Amino acid sequence: MSKVTVVGAGNVGATCANVMAINEIADEVVMLDVKQGVSEGKAMDMMQTVELLDIDTKIVGCTNDYSKTANSDVVVVTSGIPRKPGMSREDLVGVNAGIVKSVCDQVLAYSPNAIFVIISNPMDTMTYLTLKATGLPKNRVIGMGGALDSSRFRYYLATALGVNPRQVEGTVIGGHGDKTMIPLKRLATVKGIPASELLNKEQLDKVVADTMVGGATLTGLLGTSAWYAPGAAVSYLVESIIRNQKKVIPCCVYLDGEYGEKDICIGVPAVIGKNGCEKILDFKLNEEEQEAFKKSASAVRTMNSVLNQLGVIA
Ligand code: LAC
Repeated sequence: MSKVTVVGAGNVGATCANVMAINEIADEVVMLDVKQGVSEGKAMDMMQTVELLDIDTKIVGCTNDYSKTANSDVVVVTSGIPRKPGMSREDLVGVNAGIVKSVCDQVLAYSPNAIFVIISNPMDTMTYLTLKATGLPKNRVIGMGGALDSSRFRYYLATALGVNPRQVEGTVIGGHGDKTMIPLKRLATVKGIPASELLNKEQLDKVVADTMVGGATLTGLLGTSAWYAPGAAVSYLVESIIRNQKKVIPCCVYLDGEYGEKDICIGVPAVIGKNGCEKILDFKLNEEEQEAFKKSASAVRTMNSVLNQLGVIA
């Protein structure tokens, strides 16, 4: 019996619950929200699709009743406010830090063995907060940013190349911020062919720039943060944990010397399996990439220091 809890039944939370249910990633998916009736309503709506979609997943909704989340294998935290047009993910830290800490404490009381997947923004700092506030081992706290950013990178690459995105490979490392993420253009390929052989410098630089503001572009169009690709990216990550797939997924994990950084949660390629982050693929970046990674880590660290100022971690 596998069970996944999604805290926060807003756009991202409900979409990822729906994708996980449709793909039957877990036997049971629980959505919990603070708004009276919202998660129950969305769960009931989804349960009314099971016959139409021929799925066996049980979907449960609950308003703030953490007992319903008991013994989850994975807990996805989407709680907090999303950004509005013109806001950066970092603008959310003050409000979201308190919410995420309180959610993690309550969830852990009922699911002491769960692996935590953090979505709330600013995601790198919220992942670090979860790790510090819960005291969990580093393999059990993973931020979902790189999976989404890499999927946007592949979309923009495929569009520029005029090919199927499924045949494009691209990895984004660093922070999940408009200025901190690092799409690794040197390593992007189409069916093994370097993208840099097929696109000129201006085209490739535009793909990188579009990827970095990929979330902001959608926020501008939608008036709030995106949800289809974020929801699918969460599901992709959770599936690798529940089914022990050991997919290599760029995600936000705790570094202890890898890539020259310590005491920080930031995006790097990791092997994701039943124990969460089972291994970090630590490979040599070139000078320009390493420099960008250092700058990105420094920006994430500055944001993390706000947690001490707010008093949410000691
Ligand atoms: C985004 C949000 C989920 O990038 O951070 O769309």
